Amino acid sequence: MSSRFRIRTYGCQMNVHDSEKIANLLHHHRWSEARGEDEADLLVINTCSIREKAEHRLYSDLGALRAWKRAAPGRALGVGGCVAQQEGDALLRRFPHLDFVFGTHNLRRVPAMVEAARAGQRSARVDESRSLERFDWPERHPATSEHSPGRAFVTVMEGCDMFCTFCVVPLTRGREISRPARDVIAEVEGLAARGVREVTLLGQTVNAYGRHDVRRGRAAAAGTLGFAELLERLAGVPGIERIRYTSPHPLFFDDALVAAHGRLPALCPHVHLPAQSGSDEVLERMHRRYRAADLVRIAEALRAARPDLVLTTDLIVGFPGESEADFRATLDLVAEIGFVDAYSFKYSPRPGTRAAELPGAPEPAVAQARLEELQGLQRGLTLAAHRARVGTRTRVLLEGPSRRGGTQLTGRDPYHRVVNLDAAEAGLDPERAAGVLLEVEIVEATPHSLIGAPRVTAGLRTGPGQAKFRKSPSGPGPMRTVAARSGVRMPGID
Ligand code: SAH
Ligand code: SF4
Ligand code: F3S
Repeated sequence: MSSRFRIRTYGCQMNVHDSEKIANLLHHHRWSEARGEDEADLLVINTCSIREKAEHRLYSDLGALRAWKRAAPGRALGVGGCVAQQEGDALLRRFPHLDFVFGTHNLRRVPAMVEAARAGQRSARVDESRSLERFDWPERHPATSEHSPGRAFVTVMEGCDMFCTFCVVPLTRGREISRPARDVIAEVEGLAARGVREVTLLGQTVNAYGRHDVRRGRAAAAGTLGFAELLERLAGVPGIERIRYTSPHPLFFDDALVAAHGRLPALCPHVHLPAQSGSDEVLERMHRRYRAADLVRIAEALRAARPDLVLTTDLIVGFPGESEADFRATLDLVAEIGFVDAYSFKYSPRPGTRAAELPGAPEPAVAQARLEELQGLQRGLTLAAHRARVGTRTRVLLEGPSRRGGTQLTGRDPYHRVVNLDAAEAGLDPERAAGVLLEVEIVEATPHSLIGAPRVTAGLRTGPGQAKFRKSPSGPGPMRTVAARSGVRMPGID
């Protein structure tokens, strides 16, 4: 029997990584990845329910997939992720062509559920577990496609105990649980040995890593540490040049984490600091457990530790009771902190959350106008920050061909900014460029990205098995260091 799968993934990086784990598991069970859904015998949809729109996406997808299911006998269709966790077997009842539903703690059951589906048995498993087993995964199967060579996600904790009143995540991901540090370190060592340069540590509140164990004095027994200490250990893994983490919660930027940003060169000079609002009253109703002034203080402390640090954020407009003055406070905070980028959303009531019961949500048109004003402000800040980068040098970890087509390549610098450049100018084959770390000079700023021109420096390394960098036809250009131009410290240059 042929057995080829495809996975459709919605939502955050946690979901992207969960899909990688499922794909790996399926490979270990003799499945291979289909080139497209038309050729697939199994389709898994990994869902997100953070806003209503994300959840509805699943329902329209499932409607459209009736035809896919009918088109070939023996096809199996499964749904996992955050909507699956919330809806469970109600999805099976509502969609008769759906074969199986698995919750966020049940990823490892997928191969068995697929086999059952092929034998005509439909099933739903959404039980929650507090077992550390969920962090144990088989070694990466050699057949798994590497979507971004040179980079990898590493789960350090899962779940969320914060219960912000607008947020469905504590209901879909369960309670906070941290993975033993030695397992995280071993995974990162293994990744480095296969040429991974950049790791992104993942957790719903990633910088809360180990906090319950540390507070209860049982970190040694649990094998966990404080988050800053974990970063310190990982920064010592040979071959790892960049460490990122997402998503942190502002409450857990303690002195040790701030100091780590000043001390660890491998820790990227970018922090995502999700503010949500600049109004203390709104923050209180959101149960965010900080005030706007705390965010300003964290931003200042991080920049004192690492002067070139770039901050980005998440913001919600139209939360119940948000007045015009509350909204102005959000605009003021964004301008004061000077975020380089922001994801901003209109509040979307989620079933089962406390905010869904709160009265006083602004009219949809008001929320829409606020969103547009906020996004307008942010666009200006982003473009100004990008323009300030023109003429500076940076190192770009290439991800592959750019969406702009042609011979354009795309990658990210340490500040998590998208940098596009021309493959021919860099002497690279666009198909083999992913994973190459390249020194560039920023030559142009656009609203969403930077344009770079390759510059040669001695000692530049490329990922194993990747195209070798050759001297760019335009030569190294004037050796202008960033430090000389703007007085900021740049990784890989100073
Ligand atoms: N753990 C992160 C956030 C993860 S959810 C934190 O604590 O900041 C990602 C983002 O989605 C949130 O930061 C928030 O801005 C947005 N979001 C979450 N629930 C939402 C809702 N009900 N309506 C609109 N936006 C929401
Ligand atoms: Fe949601 Fe708040 Fe947890 Fe972030 S910290 S995942 S916003 S409940
Ligand atoms: Fe969405 Fe679940 Fe992530 S709700 S944002 S996929 S944790």
